[in-house]
Amino acid sequence: MLDPYRVREDFPILSVKRSDGKPLIYLDNAATSLKPRSVIDSIVEYYEKYTVNVHRGVYRLSHEATRIYEDSRERIAKFIGVSPSELVFVKNTTEAINLVAYGLDWSPGDEVITTVMEHHSNLVPWQMVRDRYGVKLRFIDITSEGLLDIGKLSDLVSEKTRLISLTHVSNVLGTINPVEDIARIARRSGILLLVDAAQSVPHIPVDARRIGCDFLAFSGHKMLGPTGIGCLYVRRGVEDLLKPVFTGGEMVGRVSLDRATWSDMPLRMEPGTPNIAGAIGLAAAVDYLSNLGMDNVRSYEDRLTDYTLKRMSEIDRVSIYGPRDVRYRSGIVAFNVERLDPHDVALLLDELENIAVRSGVHCAEPLHTRLGLSGTVRVSFYVYNTLEEVDILCDTLEKVIEMLA
Ligand code: ALA
Repeated sequence: MLDPYRVREDFPILSVKRSDGKPLIYLDNAATSLKPRSVIDSIVEYYEKYTVNVHRGVYRLSHEATRIYEDSRERIAKFIGVSPSELVFVKNTTEAINLVAYGLDWSPGDEVITTVMEHHSNLVPWQMVRDRYGVKLRFIDITSEGLLDIGKLSDLVSEKTRLISLTHVSNVLGTINPVEDIARIARRSGILLLVDAAQSVPHIPVDARRIGCDFLAFSGHKMLGPTGIGCLYVRRGVEDLLKPVFTGGEMVGRVSLDRATWSDMPLRMEPGTPNIAGAIGLAAAVDYLSNLGMDNVRSYEDRLTDYTLKRMSEIDRVSIYGPRDVRYRSGIVAFNVERLDPHDVALLLDELENIAVRSGVHCAEPLHTRLGLSGTVRVSFYVYNTLEEVDILCDTLEKVIEMLA
């Protein structure tokens, strides 16, 4: 079982107190996570000891940097059950989704199915593809419990459907979507499947091959890694459907004044000097999570979420969104207090007890519109959060409600 108090010792920021002596209660992990010492050290070590470019020099230090960079790719690929040649380094999930949106060859009339619960990063690129190439968009709705209404998926599929692109875990409702079932449906009909795993890879065991998707995207900074690094898994066999969106140095085979050929995957999708320190830091984050064990991470967050759902549902005027059963939700709890603005609630939680939560529409405005809401307050957990912090959150929330009543 995961010991959050032992974990907390590895995160330097958790020992920093605010000027009034209050420690940070960080409950905005769906936005970005805190970073452990080992991740910070791995980045400093790169910059201090072997800060040279990769895949270019013949000198010893360049070989060493390349070896560590490619070894990082291998560890990250293993973490999601794929081969290193299928793992493209990108800036973040948003960039990964855009690489698929602009890399596929679209014909007018092609259809893309997505859902009403997407983050803007898995919606706006498809709107652009629709406007540019005449592609049609269709949306899977949600049920009243906040689950995806996949019973309706077969009504949306047609022989024009090229791609289904959906989130694995909703960044608002916490809903875990049945991506394996959707992959089976997609495969049967020859439809490509892209999984936005930004909120799943950090929190639940994810094996891209077992899911059976064609593309899977995630970000490093939400899983204890640095900002500016993420990954796009491209299943071997579909890489030639994707043309490189960005081109230039190191992604090429032969180049003449007239034309160029592409190098093999994954370098074909990585023009220019990559985020070397980012990849190394992300591999250190993956090592940290692997040591904890992703099953332990998942069950510990379930415990926190279950307890939060229980405690919050005892508070008057609080409405909680998303599935109640933690088998179908991850460690994200969005809520509202009747007649209170989510931002006012978030500001007071910060003011009174140094509690960091996110408020607003969380880059998922259409989902809020679908639920008839102008915003929510969102609490999101990670491995260093404690039941004690949940108690402080709920006690402070009661105080906030009293103050603003
Ligand atoms: N996608 C991140 C969130 O949901 C930023 O907060």
